[in-house]
Amino acid sequence: MIATVRKAQRLEGEVHVPGDKSISHRALILGSLAEGWSRIRGLSTGDDVESTRACMRALDVEVEQSAIRGVGLDGLRKAAAPLDCGNSGTTMRLLAGLLAAQDFVSELTGDESLARRPMDRVVTPLREMGANVEWPPLRVGGRLPLQGIEYRTPIASAQVKSAVLIAGLFAEGTTSVIEPVATRNHTELMLGSMGARVIVEGTRVAIKKAGRLVPLDLEVPGDVSAASFWLVAGGLVPGSRIRIIGTGVNPTRTAFILALQRCGFNIETSQERRAALEPVADLEVRSSTDLHALKVTGAMAAEMIDELLVLAVAATQLPGESVIAGARELHVKESDRIAVMAEGLTAMGADITAMDDGWTIRGPSRLEGTRVQSHGDHRVAMALAVAGLLAGGATEIEGAECVAISYPDFFDQLESLC
Ligand code: S3P
Repeated sequence: MIATVRKAQRLEGEVHVPGDKSISHRALILGSLAEGWSRIRGLSTGDDVESTRACMRALDVEVEQSAIRGVGLDGLRKAAAPLDCGNSGTTMRLLAGLLAAQDFVSELTGDESLARRPMDRVVTPLREMGANVEWPPLRVGGRLPLQGIEYRTPIASAQVKSAVLIAGLFAEGTTSVIEPVATRNHTELMLGSMGARVIVEGTRVAIKKAGRLVPLDLEVPGDVSAASFWLVAGGLVPGSRIRIIGTGVNPTRTAFILALQRCGFNIETSQERRAALEPVADLEVRSSTDLHALKVTGAMAAEMIDELLVLAVAATQLPGESVIAGARELHVKESDRIAVMAEGLTAMGADITAMDDGWTIRGPSRLEGTRVQSHGDHRVAMALAVAGLLAGGATEIEGAECVAISYPDFFDQLESLC
């Protein structure tokens, strides 16, 4: 599908973004291990979370629209066929941790993009725990018991941390993960609320072998990574005002909001509340004129890894040289996001140089609409759509249907704001 986005005169209105993707995956996986029914409202409607739902069903868990009948820690059954994780790295890596700790062998597959993504990052610690793990293709499980380990992750990755902690639920003794930078903490929050013994000390998270888990009863907050597209668009299109209702504002996810505010974006938070253990708020962005360049380096990049693409789009409109560095991980996401965003934004007239770990972007540039490629990457498609709202003429995004991975209503909501 080709989506055509035209320069916006003004963006105005209220949006509800889909349920948080990271929290939704975890609620489905961990709810499956509880004893009895979990109630989960507001799960992400995206295809990635649908992949996790289908995998849990294949493992003999009853999963309804907003309820899961947990089978307990030893109730999963071997799937009849390889588990299809689709495009979802979170599904594959978190399930690798879970299934490495089962007494049967599972095979995990996915689409072409997922088949190219590195899995050695979960293979190494799971093998250290004594699990049977082969890759590629990814086959895990069938050798028990697992042993608790202390694992120092070389890369900041919430998926790796979560895979090891989930395996740790089943491992003898204590399993701990030490991260170079603290990443999103949804797994530890959720497991703690389910009665697992989780100890957090700075960037070290430890978990003890679990006896049983209590079911979940939660409302998934809106996905702040999905909200990032509107925060950038609303801040840059003159005369705009957008409210995003009920968005998760867990501090491990909001570093990009601070980065935008620091370069002059007018973003306000109100109605702060809690949904289960997660902080939630309404966000409002109004366009601002007094903007300056942004610098993202080192640890900051890991804290806003999914928002860096739309930050690169923002940087094309900021006066001066913006630098987004420390983000080598972007090469191994759903696409090589460093190369792909440099290609798309260059085609639209931006002054952007790709580096090994990010981009240097000189602005402000007058962007012009042209034909650009999503490369099947949902966040690329949405970031280029935001660029299209700022560009003269029409921007045609090829392969735009991939927004359904995390945000099926993205283009409808974009139209409702214009
Ligand atoms: C996620 C962690 C991040 C992020 C991804 C979701 C998660 O990946 O990019 O979209 O839910 O744990 P990494 O762990 O590879 O950094």
